[in-house]
Amino acid sequence: MPQNEHLILRELLAHKGGWVSGAALARRLGLSRVGVWQRMERLRAAGFILEAKRARGYRLVRAPEQLHPALVETLLRGRPRGFSLLVLDEVDSTNDEVLRQLAAGRPTPFAVLARRQTQGRGRFGRSWHSSSPANLYASFGFRPRVPPARMPLFTLWMGVNLCELLGNFAPEAPRLKWPNDLVYGSRKAGGMLTEARIDADQIRDLVFGVGLNVNTPPDAWPADLARRAISLGQVAGRPVDLNRLAAALIGRVLLAYTAFVEDRHRERFPERWHQHDLLRGRVVTLLEGGRRHHGTVVGLDEEGALLLRDEAARLHRFRAGEVSVERDL
Ligand code: BTN
Repeated sequence: MPQNEHLILRELLAHKGGWVSGAALARRLGLSRVGVWQRMERLRAAGFILEAKRARGYRLVRAPEQLHPALVETLLRGRPRGFSLLVLDEVDSTNDEVLRQLAAGRPTPFAVLARRQTQGRGRFGRSWHSSSPANLYASFGFRPRVPPARMPLFTLWMGVNLCELLGNFAPEAPRLKWPNDLVYGSRKAGGMLTEARIDADQIRDLVFGVGLNVNTPPDAWPADLARRAISLGQVAGRPVDLNRLAAALIGRVLLAYTAFVEDRHRERFPERWHQHDLLRGRVVTLLEGGRRHHGTVVGLDEEGALLLRDEAARLHRFRAGEVSVERDL
């Protein structure tokens, strides 16, 4: 049944708003005309606006604004082998759901998307605002079997890929605030949360979570986020197609993951990071383990650690920490 829905959507999308004959659809799918009509009704119930005309068939007027599993699957170009997708209405945290699925033996790679999270979380156990189905909450499950030493670059590499991707959905790409924030100016448009289970010599389970502020309007943020958050739709000046974004995100993350596992990410990483780096040349405070460090950001080392030059021109490297920008140089 979902397969039929997927095929119907593929036909409707391929005709880009043009008419698709009901008889042709019925033939192609091996259904009766009534069977096609029933599936169209199901799509309508899920938020698709479809026009039907006796002599012409059906045409897609508008796709739903909210996440729709079959639509995301249909929009996924060249479905990667073995990939599976789970779209949930509500979950505690998509990262936690991926952990549960990995523990239950679900084959990888897979992604869990949710319209809402009740316990969305970010770094340092902070909560991630997740009550709006206008935004994207996505997590990916992998079993990479690569040496743990490769991990520090993972989130940074994914960040570069996400910036490049988001640049296709807004007039400008966001910047990366080391290590895991996607920002426009001083406002956060997204964040990444990577969690791994590591055996002695290899990474066993890897969860990569992404939260993206997609279509929340400026006046709809809770008070504490109103001055710190921004959505892609705000930057674009119009709503961003959530289903297209979700499909593009999945495609990009899977490609970037393959490059990472095959160790092809290193070569172009520094240049690409540099292009999107928010911090280079800025005077920052880095909070790490309860201590504050001040300095100017010089860049990253080969392992993705942040390099800070202090006032005495000494160089310090940090593998973790939280950065706040004090001023530009
Ligand atoms: C951060 O900026 O601290 C990271 C935020 C990551 C949020 C995403 S939303 C999808 C996934 N599920 C979670 O619970 N967290 C990540």
